[in-house]
Amino acid sequence: MKEVCSVPRAGISNRNQQDSLPHHVAMIMDGNGRWAMQQGLPRTAGHKKGVDAVRELVKYCRHRGIFYLTLFAFSSENWSRPQEEVRVLTDLLCASIDTEARLLIDNDIKLSVIGDISRFPDSLQKSIERTCQQTLNNCSMTLTIALNYGGQWDIQNACKSIARMVESGSLAAAEISQQLIESHLCTHDLPDPDLFIRTGGEIRISNFILWQLAYTELFFTDTYWPDFDVDCFECALNDYAERQRRFGNIECQIKESA
Ligand code: IPE
Ligand code: IPE
Ligand code: MG
Repeated sequence: MKEVCSVPRAGISNRNQQDSLPHHVAMIMDGNGRWAMQQGLPRTAGHKKGVDAVRELVKYCRHRGIFYLTLFAFSSENWSRPQEEVRVLTDLLCASIDTEARLLIDNDIKLSVIGDISRFPDSLQKSIERTCQQTLNNCSMTLTIALNYGGQWDIQNACKSIARMVESGSLAAAEISQQLIESHLCTHDLPDPDLFIRTGGEIRISNFILWQLAYTELFFTDTYWPDFDVDCFECALNDYAERQRRFGNIECQIKESA
């Protein structure tokens, strides 16, 4: 696959400098297993290396002024992987949430988790709760990790809770708005992502935040997650800065409102 960032985008510039940096970046960190196999290592070595890439990216986003970073770390479908890989992944999650808590506190980063964490071991659930609590009042950046998350699951839950309100008579079906649906999604306290990045070469969303990506700018790269560094991230940011987001309008309307 050709790197999108190497293709110059002709004639279309962004509205202003402020808009050229995404406020919210969402990422599918893919390619750990293939990275490891390429090095002749077991797949789990790729997950271990992937943790280092997460740490560097979080630090860089904080430094760069990205306000929201949302990372897909474990999907609701990933349970069907070999048991040993799932075990290594949950152990790694547990260890890294504990060890990286200091980094989050020192950098004024709030940790939040979306997804159904009740299926994870108690130790991981406790680490998540402790670190989320410790960083609750941090306000320079919000790091959201999607764990046992699925976009369809999220929408299904929102439907169920809205249906219960209709059933109980506290809401009329005609009152169901897009805003109401959004307020029942796990991401209700996050703005929609401006930029979505998927590493690892696959051009798909894999049941990540489906509703929320409606107008997000998409960026795909062949780079495997463990190799995704600051330069790769800058490449995605540069590509984003050249895009014109029209949200259904036409180009001259965007220029007028700039
Ligand atoms: C992403 O890397 C990590 C998780 C899904 C947990 P993969 O493990 O999917 O790596 P590939 O795609 O098989 O190379
Ligand atoms: C998506 O990657 C999930 C995460 C990165 C957590 P997958 O590797 O599970 O996605 P598919 O199976 O290639 O679509
Ligand atoms: Mg994968």
